[in-house]
Amino acid sequence: MSDLIVTIDGPAASGKSTVARLLADKLDASFLDTGAMYRAVTLAAMQAGVDLNDQRKLLEIVQKCKFQFSAEAGKTAVCIDNTDVTEQIRDPEVTSNARYIAGEPTVRAELVRMQRQFAAARQKIVTEGRDQGTVAFADADVKFFLTADAGERARRRQADLGGKDNDQSLEQIQKAIEERDRSDESRAVGPLKPADDAIVVDTTDLSIDQVVEKLLALVKERCSQSK
Ligand code: C5P
Repeated sequence: MSDLIVTIDGPAASGKSTVARLLADKLDASFLDTGAMYRAVTLAAMQAGVDLNDQRKLLEIVQKCKFQFSAEAGKTAVCIDNTDVTEQIRDPEVTSNARYIAGEPTVRAELVRMQRQFAAARQKIVTEGRDQGTVAFADADVKFFLTADAGERARRRQADLGGKDNDQSLEQIQKAIEERDRSDESRAVGPLKPADDAIVVDTTDLSIDQVVEKLLALVKERCSQSK
């Protein structure tokens, strides 16, 4: 059983992944990027030519494919059946199709089971996603919900994309982010929302380092209170 579970949920491009990875480093904890899991299943289903509304086929993909996730400098490396798909899972088509997988209850249940299995094998973890504090780890030691205004999140996403997909304007990126938030917030299973006991942090005017320092201080404070 883990000694420390920290969850970070929040909307698209709120900086969760970067913050979670850096916070995990500071806490000497393992890092779990659950968005990469939904993206990997989406890509595997697309590659297999599966109807993304076919619940049974999607579950088969999750159970039959071999998914491997590893933390590499600055990103989560992903393999499907031993093929590296780290770059492909970030493709805008995969990003937009992830909603089919995210809305499928049996697939979500299986991915949550895998996330808990990952945590159970580790002493400390920092995990990020949409439902980590509400569903996957409802008993987590510390829960965060990161927000930032949509315009700022779009600017961050554009900077992340660098030269790639530069045919997308800032307005298009913001629109895609807002559509994804709506879809994530409105699904029946594991919707995007802060857990009742989550600490909500608005990162709009904060640098990555400031967010990490703030979260680190809060984790230390909570841990010293619970001793
Ligand atoms: O965080 P990221 O943008 O990589 O997530 C991709 C998509 O995967 C999200 O838009 C969401 O639909 C889904 N997701 C989810 N639950 C999680 C993590 C991601 O539904 N815990």
